[in-house]
Amino acid sequence: MLLRVAITLQTLALFATPITAGLLLSSPDGRALHSVSAYGVFAVAVLHLVAAILVWRPGGGSPRPILYAAGFLGLTLAQVALGIAQVKTLHVPLGVLMFGMSVLQFSRVWPAAVGRRGGDVHAARGHLDHP
Ligand code: HEM
Repeated sequence: MLLRVAITLQTLALFATPITAGLLLSSPDGRALHSVSAYGVFAVAVLHLVAAILVWRPGGGSPRPILYAAGFLGLTLAQVALGIAQVKTLHVPLGVLMFGMSVLQFSRVWPAAVGRRGGDVHAARGHLDHP
């Protein structure tokens, strides 16, 4: 559950960044708003890493989500550095990639929310029992 909440918050925070990026390009207060949303993504990426560690120990789950969360935090730091350095040719596509990765991860942890039955054993059984 902890990981689901962290990934949901991360996806929502990333969804806000292109919106504030649009404001950055079109309004005087946009830069501050984009910075706030960027550091929101950073805070949620740290939370995601902490959640992944807690799911492993003491949760007794797999350590794999730690690798993903650590990689994502690394991408977030690179994204902040590219934004501050104004390297738009890398910053904009990396932002889109990060949002795509997060949505993919969201669909893996919440298969029912996106209408996927593959990951849900009970849904698959129900489908077979009642065609
Ligand atoms: C699709 C998503 C995104 C788009 C389209 C986007 C676009 C932009 C643009 C156009 C700039 C201005 C660059 C310039 O002034 O030349 C910028 C700056 C910046 N971006 Fe993004 N960005 C996105 C996502 C992110 C994310 C996910 C982060 C961090 C987690 C981030 C962090 C920053 C930072 C720190 C700046 C510098 C702000 C400043 O100079 O005050 N951006 N971004």
